[in-house]
Amino acid sequence: MPDDAGTNRGKSQVGPDARSAEILARLKSMRQQDAPTHGGRVLSYVYDPGSDILDELAGKAMELARPLNGLDPTTFPSIAQMEKELTRFAIGLTGGRVGRIFGSVTSGGTESCLLAVKTARDLWRSAHPDSTLRPRLLTSTTVHAAFQKAAKAFDLDWDPVPVGPDGRVRARDVLGRLGDDVALVVLSAPAYPTGAIDPIAEVARRTRERGIALHVDACFGGLALPWWGTDEQWDFSIPGVTSISADFHKFGYAPKGVSVLMHRGRKRHRAQFFATSSWPAYPVVNPTLLGSKSASPLAAAWAIVSYLGQEGYAEAVASCRKSTEAIIAAVDGIDGLQVWGRPTGPALALIADTSVPTARRVDPHRLADAAVAAGFRLQHQPGFTQSDGTRLPRSVHLTITPVTETVLPELLTTVSQAADRVRGRRPHNASLAGRLARMLYPSPKRPGPGVCAMLLRLSGAGSGVPGKMAGLMALIEALPAPVTEALLTELLARTSED
Ligand SMILES: Cc1ncc(COP(=O)(O)O)c(C=O)c1O
Repeated sequence: MPDDAGTNRGKSQVGPDARSAEILARLKSMRQQDAPTHGGRVLSYVYDPGSDILDELAGKAMELARPLNGLDPTTFPSIAQMEKELTRFAIGLTGGRVGRIFGSVTSGGTESCLLAVKTARDLWRSAHPDSTLRPRLLTSTTVHAAFQKAAKAFDLDWDPVPVGPDGRVRARDVLGRLGDDVALVVLSAPAYPTGAIDPIAEVARRTRERGIALHVDACFGGLALPWWGTDEQWDFSIPGVTSISADFHKFGYAPKGVSVLMHRGRKRHRAQFFATSSWPAYPVVNPTLLGSKSASPLAAAWAIVSYLGQEGYAEAVASCRKSTEAIIAAVDGIDGLQVWGRPTGPALALIADTSVPTARRVDPHRLADAAVAAGFRLQHQPGFTQSDGTRLPRSVHLTITPVTETVLPELLTTVSQAADRVRGRRPHNASLAGRLARMLYPSPKRPGPGVCAMLLRLSGAGSGVPGKMAGLMALIEALPAPVTEALLTELLARTSED
């Protein structure tokens, strides 16, 4: 905010229109530093259908809904109506039937995941009133980090099941860890790091027999897999699936702030709600973590769904699939690089091909840094040691959206040329900062903000500058998780600190 913000309102030399124009001009100028949200060059975070009409429609719907408060759909029934229609659409896509499956709109994937866990924990507690066990959240290692957040927030023990070298969890490994303390099993459709769909049907058969809840996190794939044309089962057509999350602000193409969490049966759905009349003001009842909230993302999602319908989404997914297949085929032809495992849907990860000698291998993080020169942002994923000691490779993630097709030839050339440029170069190692941090923190103790800032400066990773992420990733790989987490906290906190 400029130092004079708000101070010259009313006594300004310039009129209100000019003042507004100045403010907006400043915002526009700040926005120029942002990564491009349109055009297909950023292959994560943004889901661009490549349509000005949809952008405009979403903007207008948001503006119409802007003054509303999503806190109370009885005061603002348009919210209830939009939520009903959006939820109905999502239920239809995920193999459910209205009247059997019930859902609520949330502010995004993380909120849906948090609520899925909280709901299951509450139901588990009421089913085990005398249990001395702590509730356990059993997931594959590749489920989204939002589930770790949920386990922390709602006090469950998180139990991640290691995945195989292909990035897929084995059903038998999940089943081998079922127990009376498991409040919820979570699998993904697909998992963000690998793009692989977990063996949901196999696990669901057994969890159903044992009365254990099973959540399918389809935040990423829920609005793409229905049209992808896969034999892999993942939705409510599997009787043991008790809840599903699906994000409209990903492959639904809505602006950020809208996801749906669906439950099998009214009882589960109602367990998601918080209601109280035990305070001296308006009775509070809502199915979400937030209270007052914007209805604008809901209105935008509703408008986009009304516009696209099944047909529009099918077309968008066909484009994503075409691009995904072209990328997989192109990577197959690049020496030293490979697609990780067998992805299903519009996400994939690239890893070094360790079956060739090191001199021919392509380090994915060096590849991603090299691609920045051509304006493409691929997302670095650090290598990771699982709970059983097995190591998952470092990789780069690509989210494929309809607009990817418009830059496809350029993207394929960029990946191929970047691979040529970095082939045989050793992966970054953790640099001086990493060695120093390991010396200072041999035990996984959390360093304070000052030390973190020094380590970040030393590593040259503090800026988060595109094209220089490999160094930061190497640091993350080298350090114990608590040290890394403190560094990342510092990195982000300082971005908005004076
Ligand atoms: C599978 C999956 N689940 C959950 C999330 C979290 O969603 P959000 O970023 O909307 O909170 C993501 C985000 O990428 C995801 O891919």
